[in-house]
Amino acid sequence: MASRPATRAARAAIAHLAKPAVQRRTFVAAAGAVRAGSVNAAKPAVSARIQQVRGVKTIDFAGTKEVVYERADWPREKLLEYFKDDTLALIGYGSQGHGQGLNLRDNGLNVIIGVRKNGASWNEAIQDGWVPGKNLFEVDEAISRGTIVMNLLSDAAQSETWPAIKPQLTKGKTLYFSHGFSPVFKDLTKVDIPEDIDVILVAPKGSGRTVRTLFREGRGINSSVAVFQDVTGKALEKAVALGVAVGSGYLYQTTFEKEVYSDLYGERGCLMGGIHGMFLAQYEVLRERGHSPSEAFNETVEEATQSLYPLISQNGMDYMYAACSTTARRGAIDWSKKFKDTLKPVFNELYDRVADGSETQRSLEYNSRPDYRELYEKEMEEIRNLEIWRAGKAVRSLRPENASS
Ligand SMILES: NC(=O)c1ccc[n+]([C@@H]2O[C@H](COP(=O)([O-])OP(=O)(O)OC[C@H]3O[C@@H](n4cnc5c(N)ncnc54)[C@H](OP(=O)(O)O)[C@@H]3O)[C@@H](O)[C@H]2O)c1
Repeated sequence: MASRPATRAARAAIAHLAKPAVQRRTFVAAAGAVRAGSVNAAKPAVSARIQQVRGVKTIDFAGTKEVVYERADWPREKLLEYFKDDTLALIGYGSQGHGQGLNLRDNGLNVIIGVRKNGASWNEAIQDGWVPGKNLFEVDEAISRGTIVMNLLSDAAQSETWPAIKPQLTKGKTLYFSHGFSPVFKDLTKVDIPEDIDVILVAPKGSGRTVRTLFREGRGINSSVAVFQDVTGKALEKAVALGVAVGSGYLYQTTFEKEVYSDLYGERGCLMGGIHGMFLAQYEVLRERGHSPSEAFNETVEEATQSLYPLISQNGMDYMYAACSTTARRGAIDWSKKFKDTLKPVFNELYDRVADGSETQRSLEYNSRPDYRELYEKEMEEIRNLEIWRAGKAVRSLRPENASS
């Protein structure tokens, strides 16, 4: 999820929103719908339909059986025993490096951090209690000490630093990613993996900050898990164990390619880009048709994020519909078809651009520029200054829980 802190943050924000306030379209109480037996909440939980073999479950996702791993099979003592001879060299201390690194450390594993000396990450790592020369090193030094190299540099930096990193990945080491980007698009990234090492992936389905907060709350995040290269025959087992060690609850099995395609596609679509574009289009039309900023914002974003999206998150789309007025339902059912038909070609174009590497190319070019942070900040400033988001700030201040008196 590049833009990545924000990408996963956006998903996490939707998943962890505060309880919805009851608003105009939600006055047909969801509870009533549950009582009527018309929503998913009334159906047996998915756990009732699973087959379990120790920490592995085959779950029926709407008719398709998929394998999911769970942390129950990897209690802390077993993790400590499994990784007792390993040094986990975690390279990069952005959102994921921070979350995964601290969780590994709290789990008692032997983890060291590798980042550029005196960069922003170096200073942040020191603030988090990593000690230079003890468990905080420059990238090369950390890799030379590690048996498992967890590459959590930015995706652009993974490509940039590969010529220096590759020779240090000697036989017996394991290479770990949290995104399939670098190896899958190797023609563009030049990340050509040596053939004699295990290569695995654990990609948390949320921001690194969420990886950390959920761990601290004793909960856990769900992640994708995949194997790119299995030399030892233990790659999957190692990936699952590491996934649990960094704070995952359940791990969905996938491939590097599927992970990177779906991730790049999703963040450009419904998770971030698509939803932002839709918010802007709807808001602009309301403003052009004479509605006030507060009304336009409330009808576009506030009611969505505060009331309706959390209902979808809790129990699905039909649950949200059931909680809305008959008037709202009729219009939403009718218009959803038109939006789907109109947008599907755009989504197909997007998927094509992901699959042919165009999106990777663009990301590499943009994020490899020395001034990428400044350029990004300039774009964020433009977004922040859009009327919709300035109006949103005022609307949020009027949420009853934020009222000053
Ligand atoms: N963020 C998420 O929510 C998320 C979720 C799932 C997966 N992922 C994946 O996890 C990986 C890490 O992503 P992230 O968002 O945590 O990190 P990020 O913010 O994209 O990258 C930050 C790290 O890269 C380092 N870096 C950047 N350019 C460098 C260079 N030229 N040489 C050396 N170091 C450089 C930074 O160090 P300095 O401070 O020194 O610049 C910093 O430690 C990526 O593969 C990403 O796709 C991210």
